[in-house]
Amino acid sequence: MSTSVPAFAAHTGTYLLSHSVGLPLQDAQQAAQKAFWQPWQQADAEIWTHWLAAIDGFRTQLAILLKGKKGSFCPQTSLSSAVAKIIDSLSLDPSKKSILLSEEDFPSIAFALQQAAGEGYALKFIPADSDLADIDVWDEQMTADVGMVLVTQVQSNNGRQLPVQKITQLSHSKGILSLVDIAQSAGILPISLADWQADFVLGSCVKWIGGGPGAAFMWVNPEIIDRCTPKNVGWFSHENPFEFDIHHFRYAEDALRFWGGTPSVYPYVVAAHSLESVNRTGVEHIRAHNIMLADKIIQALSPAILVSPPEPELRSGTVILHFADRQASLIKRLQDQHIHFDSRAKGIRLSPHLCNTSQQIDSLLDSF
Ligand SMILES: Cc1ncc(COP(=O)(O)O)c(C=O)c1O
Repeated sequence: MSTSVPAFAAHTGTYLLSHSVGLPLQDAQQAAQKAFWQPWQQADAEIWTHWLAAIDGFRTQLAILLKGKKGSFCPQTSLSSAVAKIIDSLSLDPSKKSILLSEEDFPSIAFALQQAAGEGYALKFIPADSDLADIDVWDEQMTADVGMVLVTQVQSNNGRQLPVQKITQLSHSKGILSLVDIAQSAGILPISLADWQADFVLGSCVKWIGGGPGAAFMWVNPEIIDRCTPKNVGWFSHENPFEFDIHHFRYAEDALRFWGGTPSVYPYVVAAHSLESVNRTGVEHIRAHNIMLADKIIQALSPAILVSPPEPELRSGTVILHFADRQASLIKRLQDQHIHFDSRAKGIRLSPHLCNTSQQIDSLLDSF
């Protein structure tokens, strides 16, 4: 594992917002210039060969990061739109009309699930005060009416990690389809899709990967791909996009059947460059650095202030803190000191990444 630290774009203050929008690399524009603009500006007749190679590189890097096969990844514009495509592609069992999820999941995914599934289907919410790390809670909720389960590996509200593998194995054993949201974990937690037995996994590159918005992705288990007949298709969903026989559509054999019409290119070029950097550094190294800085914060504070779990194996990359009646004045003080964070109902969210140093965390702690 290499320990090289990438150069991030120049910025002021202490940037602790990688759970929201990760910082770009210093040379992100140069990389885009080379892979996107240059072949286009040179009026290269083979422009699509260049651009498709760049998107192929994006899938290759995802396969390395998440330990899956390249063919199982399909570029998507957002997780929510990918949800709609997945639901639309399946013939759901009419006797299993509940989709199980948690009140702590990201609302956009719930909205997409409900609208795509239609009125006959009901979202069945696990209450926010349940212990989602307890597999018995999931077991109890996976009743005979449940056809699909949404598992959000890291819930942005509470900074917890869910035991994805246990949950997806349980759903698999009960014949329930699983959909895993890794928006908040990709690029910060080591992930091995090959071990999960999930049916679908959705993520994006805008957060810890620092790859900008628009480069989301879908992973589809090869064992389920033949059951998927996406309705939202285009020529890039075809087994051979360049066949051009208007009377003959065949689905791509792999996850690209979920792709659609002429794809956007720029977001994937930018994201592929960031993914290469994450893979070069090693996600284990990134996580170790994150844990080291997060532990520094946690150990300096009273446990009453900590909303996210103290144990590294249970928490995400984000430390969530609530200072009770000091909260509002503290937020103002941190903002005045150019510490970049955000604040939600449960507390302030701080996400230490490779762009942060121990000294920055010491200064942060001085502000508390
Ligand atoms: C857990 C989680 N899922 C999904 C999303 C975003 O989904 P989408 O790509 O549809 O905007 C976020 C964004 O913050 C998130 O935190």
